[in-house]
Amino acid sequence: MNVLLIGGGGREHALAWKISQSPLLEKFFAIPGSPGIADFAECVEISIADNAALVNFAKEKNINLVVIGPEAPLVNGLVDELNAAGIKAFGCTKDAAQIEGSKIFAKRLMKKYHIPTAEFEVFDNPEAAKNYIKAKGAPIVIKADGLAAGKGVIVAQNLDEALNAVDEMKTFGAAGSKIVVEEFMDGEEASVLALTDGEKILPLIAAQDHKRVFDGDKGLNTGGMGAYAPAPIVDDKIAAQVEEKILKPTIAALKAEGITYRGCLYAGLMIVDGTAKVVEFNCRFGDPETQVVLPLMESDLLELMYACADGTLSDKKISWSKSSAVCVIMASGGYPKSYKKNLPIDGITKAKSLGATIFHAGTKILNDELVTSGGRVLGVTMTAPTLREAVEKVYKCVEVIHFDDVHYRKDIAARALK
Ligand code: AMP
Ligand code: GLY
Repeated sequence: MNVLLIGGGGREHALAWKISQSPLLEKFFAIPGSPGIADFAECVEISIADNAALVNFAKEKNINLVVIGPEAPLVNGLVDELNAAGIKAFGCTKDAAQIEGSKIFAKRLMKKYHIPTAEFEVFDNPEAAKNYIKAKGAPIVIKADGLAAGKGVIVAQNLDEALNAVDEMKTFGAAGSKIVVEEFMDGEEASVLALTDGEKILPLIAAQDHKRVFDGDKGLNTGGMGAYAPAPIVDDKIAAQVEEKILKPTIAALKAEGITYRGCLYAGLMIVDGTAKVVEFNCRFGDPETQVVLPLMESDLLELMYACADGTLSDKKISWSKSSAVCVIMASGGYPKSYKKNLPIDGITKAKSLGATIFHAGTKILNDELVTSGGRVLGVTMTAPTLREAVEKVYKCVEVIHFDDVHYRKDIAARALK
């Protein structure tokens, strides 16, 4: 099978790493890829926003499956255009991608089909939103409707913060012209990703991300500072609940709305008093969740992804290792605000010799040297028979990697070890 992977972050590096292990794989390309992905695939510089150029490339190279990592090309209708050209893709169509692309779409879908989530109201008038907030009180959550690079959500602890958040939404342009105000859910978060062909659903093992930039869940929200799997908070009872009350009804709800959802459905969950509620849906794999879930997957991911695209997932199963995995994100100092780039990175070879798998999130080659090029730079992943052992070992690997101003959390998975 000839495969084209779209994207170049840590999640895509993990996808490339896993796809490369498939006996089905023949030629492998990535756009734009990364210095890490280049170990497995030929990386090609084409804009991932240019659907026509991507379709042409896939035709030219006789690609059998295009795997799409990030949400933007999905929201931008890349899968629709590939399918129209007769090319199979792992990823959902544009109408399905609204489940991530529009918070209002997702919330209304959940309400209509009784999928458990926080209570909410939608506003396009800031004054009306403020009046509602004053009536409800804090803590309360304010969200921009559209994609805002993970920054469009403000969890306000007091009324002042909440009212300011409404004004801040204007800074997100079109994404913030409509806002959702929702009930604050007090619980523990987990991510359950599922593969689906629009009929059958195969949930992956649950992971827990660490969204805040500093230890103890302090500081700003980020794309994710580390993750581990399996997440013990999602026990068998909650896993069954997530499948029966959230994943299956959501795929069925979309179907009832005329949308066949194929690809990966990511349910961001809050576990409140033993019940899972949806915080958000994403229309793609999680980052960094993918970096801990895939190392534990024993099945052939490429075979599964092809079956999702092909509508033939019904006879497939996934087998999992009994180990645990942890990933620590090494980020540029200052992230998620501004940070320096082009700083040389040392120690990767040493860390690999200690057993780590290193996923490149934001690196590039400059004058033959590996340097930083993004906020999240590396994801250092370790698997071990127990989570405790994985955590102890991963930090030994992290400590041998260096770049100036490096920042990472020292408490990844600490909650699960308590
Ligand atoms: P989202 O982009 O919707 O996932 O929101 C980003 C983060 O904000 C989530 O991962 C949660 O940590 C937090 N959050 C969002 N909605 C809520 C809510 N209703 N209650 C509590 N925390 C929330
Ligand atoms: N780790 C959060 C996300 O992928 O959206």
